[in-house]
Amino acid sequence: MNIICNKSSGHFHLYNDRISYIIAVAPSGELTNIYFGKRIHDRDNFSYVIFQMGMPNIAVDADTESYSMELNRQEYPSFGTTDFGMPAFEVETENGSRISSFVYKSHSIYKGKKELTGLPATYANEEKEAMTLEVLLEDEQAKIVLTLFYTIFDNYPVVARHAEFRNEGKDTVKLTKALSCCLDLPDQNYEMMQFTGAWARERIPEVRKLTNGITAVESKRGTSSANFNPFVIMKRPKTDDFSGEAFGFSFVYSGNFIAAAEGSTYGRLRIVMGINPERFTWILESEESFVTPEVVIAHTDLGLNDLSRTYHRLYNNNLVRGKWKNRPRPILNNNWEATYMDFTEESILNIASKAKQAGVELFVLDDGWFGERDDDFAGLGDWVENPKKLPQGMAGLSRKINAMGLDFGFWIEPEMVNPNSNLYRRHPEWVLAVPGRKPSLGRHQLVLDFSRKEVVDYIYNMLYKVISGASISYIKWDMNRPLTEVFSMDSPPEKQGMIYHKYVLGVYSLYTRLIETFPDILFESCSSGGNRFDAGMLYYAPQAWCSDNTDAIDRLRIQYGSSYGYPIVSIGSHVSNVPNQQTGRSTSIATRANVAYFGTYGYELDLNEISSKDFEEVKEQIEFMKKYRELIQFGDFYRLRSPFETDQTAWMVVSKDKKKAIVGFYCMKSNVNTLPGFLRLAGLDEETLYKMEDREYYGDELMNMGITLSEFYNKGFTISEDYSSFVSVIEAV
Ligand code: GLA
Repeated sequence: MNIICNKSSGHFHLYNDRISYIIAVAPSGELTNIYFGKRIHDRDNFSYVIFQMGMPNIAVDADTESYSMELNRQEYPSFGTTDFGMPAFEVETENGSRISSFVYKSHSIYKGKKELTGLPATYANEEKEAMTLEVLLEDEQAKIVLTLFYTIFDNYPVVARHAEFRNEGKDTVKLTKALSCCLDLPDQNYEMMQFTGAWARERIPEVRKLTNGITAVESKRGTSSANFNPFVIMKRPKTDDFSGEAFGFSFVYSGNFIAAAEGSTYGRLRIVMGINPERFTWILESEESFVTPEVVIAHTDLGLNDLSRTYHRLYNNNLVRGKWKNRPRPILNNNWEATYMDFTEESILNIASKAKQAGVELFVLDDGWFGERDDDFAGLGDWVENPKKLPQGMAGLSRKINAMGLDFGFWIEPEMVNPNSNLYRRHPEWVLAVPGRKPSLGRHQLVLDFSRKEVVDYIYNMLYKVISGASISYIKWDMNRPLTEVFSMDSPPEKQGMIYHKYVLGVYSLYTRLIETFPDILFESCSSGGNRFDAGMLYYAPQAWCSDNTDAIDRLRIQYGSSYGYPIVSIGSHVSNVPNQQTGRSTSIATRANVAYFGTYGYELDLNEISSKDFEEVKEQIEFMKKYRELIQFGDFYRLRSPFETDQTAWMVVSKDKKKAIVGFYCMKSNVNTLPGFLRLAGLDEETLYKMEDREYYGDELMNMGITLSEFYNKGFTISEDYSSFVSVIEAV
């Protein structure tokens, strides 16, 4: 890994073993992109790539009239001069002008990576893991300094980017758009893979052909959202999981975003990502700075499994922090689907005690323990134990659960308030709402104005009391409605455009305070399931409840889709009861576990209510997961067969030394009277002899010829039936 600055030609070359990212100072003084892709040799001068012509339609430099930004590739484009594409930013100065010209001033190159104050971001564990280039550009007239940050990591084919604006003038300026990055590519032969959905059907991959014009996904819901995930892939049309070129764009942020690709009619493809400019205005007073969140751009020439593994490894090693980083996760039992809010301490202890017998390690008390919370009409905001349900409070319950030999954790939804709550009665001005207008309700609740420090402080203090008084090792942090009527009663009119982002900063600040005070607690983020499953959250909460849909068959699609951008260990997945409460579908306890293994693992049911035969199986499942969770959660993951293209799903994980692997195969719909076929495995060592069930195979045999699925019929696996499945361990002999 290195960053070369060629002073005479004015180009910067960031490279490691796999990628090269080359930028140069353009004739206009702005930064232009020369190349991003597979590693290439360095040259003294790459300026031949910059396209100049006798007389372009419109030229930025009046002296030579030869250079047009529209015909070149920009690093952080503005609109209003000679580039008519999507700009990466817009600054409005006091005279109303929105024309900017950020010209190269200086740069610095250093080992390591700086923090982004108040924001989540990837980091280098040691300086030698990464190098950073900062390029400082200035608009001399407006007296604004723009710094573009580029970090290259030694071990990953990624470049992390963000930008910072600093107002060095006396006048106040307005940022009406401040995206995190722009990547202009020289051709448009790409497709955009996006991850779309809604509640209970999150992160379903969809591929859109790119052409002239704009193709975009975005969130305006205040969270990153289940509707469009802030992760997109730009892939060559023939790229699949096993071969081909692609770029990934992962936004390390949990609020409104936009990810857009624009094909210009001259052939350039522009990709931008950042905070959604809709309802965004940032007022920058003299001497103030604005830092954009980070985008992690990854490249592969080896297919989408490789791209996903890059994100899995980078996020596990250089985004997730604290005690739970790279640590196998506890097997938990959550009471939500078992009791909803209708429980007593006794009924909870009863579920926990059975969970302990099964081998569960952590018991989680979900919604309903606080305030007047007997249904979802009341209580949010009143973070004090309900004495009818918890007579000895959280302290008493946690002690009793600990005495059983289980760790204990509980559910919170700190950003919310019910109109029927003491908090709202005392502080109606603490919600996001426009005075005089009726605010919209979602699940009978309103959103607290987390842009206000006193609101965040108040919630912190309430939670601090409950947590510090009890024995807590896990917290599920939920967030169950989108932001609407985003107006802060505390902010002047010109600063209302800052509230969406300030809200997210407020959420991050509460996370930061709780983590700093209680560093051992494992946080799981949740937002009606997967409404806020993003890289920003992983910086605080290393796992996320993937979906409220716990049906094994639907979960195959949801977990498969999630695996493109997020580590397996971050995917909250539990076995729940049948018929499934969301879909009505019944699947065997074996299939439910076979799906849930590929994630954090746990149970979302009362184990007292299942048959004794299933209970015996649950004990074995937990033993299996304890034995293999390290491999599953941190091994190299391969998608093998897509639930979106076939009636089957298959995936596998392989240990770093390729000596152990686990494959999961699932039949979502049987196809009568067809050949059972083969399943080709991946990621093994060709020369190694492996044992799978009671047969030995060479790695090349398993990967090229594949396993004969009919073998599994004869081994007691009924894999030809609807919803049948097998999980099988492969070990080097
Ligand atoms: C959300 C979560 C669920 C559960 C409920 C509790 O829907 O996604 O897992 O915690 O809230 O109200």
